[in-house]
Amino acid sequence: MRPEHPIVLITGASSGFGEAMARLLASQGCHLALGARRVERVQALADELIKAHGIKAYAGAVDTRVTASVDAFVAAAAEQLGGLHVLVANAGLASGTYKLWETPDEDLEAMLRTNVEGVVKTIRAGLPHLRQAGWGHIFFIGSTAGHQPYEGGSVYCASKFGVKAMAQSLRLEVNGEQIRVTSVDPGMAETEFSDVRLKDRDKAKAVYQGVKALSAYDVAECIRWCLMLPDHVNIDEVLVKCVDQASVHKVHRRA
Ligand SMILES: NC(=O)c1ccc[n+]([C@@H]2O[C@H](COP(=O)([O-])OP(=O)(O)OC[C@H]3O[C@@H](n4cnc5c(N)ncnc54)[C@H](OP(=O)(O)O)[C@@H]3O)[C@@H](O)[C@H]2O)c1
Repeated sequence: MRPEHPIVLITGASSGFGEAMARLLASQGCHLALGARRVERVQALADELIKAHGIKAYAGAVDTRVTASVDAFVAAAAEQLGGLHVLVANAGLASGTYKLWETPDEDLEAMLRTNVEGVVKTIRAGLPHLRQAGWGHIFFIGSTAGHQPYEGGSVYCASKFGVKAMAQSLRLEVNGEQIRVTSVDPGMAETEFSDVRLKDRDKAKAVYQGVKALSAYDVAECIRWCLMLPDHVNIDEVLVKCVDQASVHKVHRRA
């Protein structure tokens, strides 16, 4: 049975998509568990949303690369909020724009451990709570990079192809349960993503120069829509790009 106020756990809620999802879902009456390494940001967000919407919210430090950290965050969230219904495995990053053979170990590990292992650890820890509730929805955050590889993105693309594979496998594995599985796969969206990837503010700004890119709220709206559909409806995949982006390699830029 669909809960009146779903309890939604979001990793990577300290900026970008995760923060926007928290704001949008709080406005819809969802209770929230918000995690990231920058705990002061998620704590401030939780405090703000409790005040603004009268929801319950738990904020915790989590490093999704580390099993013990994820397990502790998920357990504390479920205990504080009285269970979990929705998991959004959003925490992720691209690190650098290296050709495959130039990729340093540090960047390789950061992307694979966060984008692949972190997603497994989050869902592995959270799924028992969805099963206990008898109603659940799991969101993966993939990317156009999981549909179309590009130069300088081999490891990031590999990680997002991995996300797509995990979403498809999990949907088969939970078939027969009231657990929906959706992958939301955005194209270029203006968040802190390019700052983290390029480690240079000017270069990051140039990525979006002359383009009306997706905003974090556009992506959050996709999550809201999938979540609010009737229980028998599962949106497998949302591939969403801004109008200016026809493909990974074709982006219209205004002067
Ligand atoms: N922006 C885009 O163009 C785009 C397009 C397609 C897909 N995506 C995907 O969307 C997701 C969110 O990205 P975004 O655009 O919102 O970027 P963002 O603004 O940089 O947000 C990334 C979030 O992930 C968190 N995070 C990173 N590593 C983490 C770790 N080890 N443990 C816990 N949290 C971690 C960050 O929090 P802390 O640093 O505080 O831990 C932050 O809250 C990522 O999976 C990304 O690959 C982005």
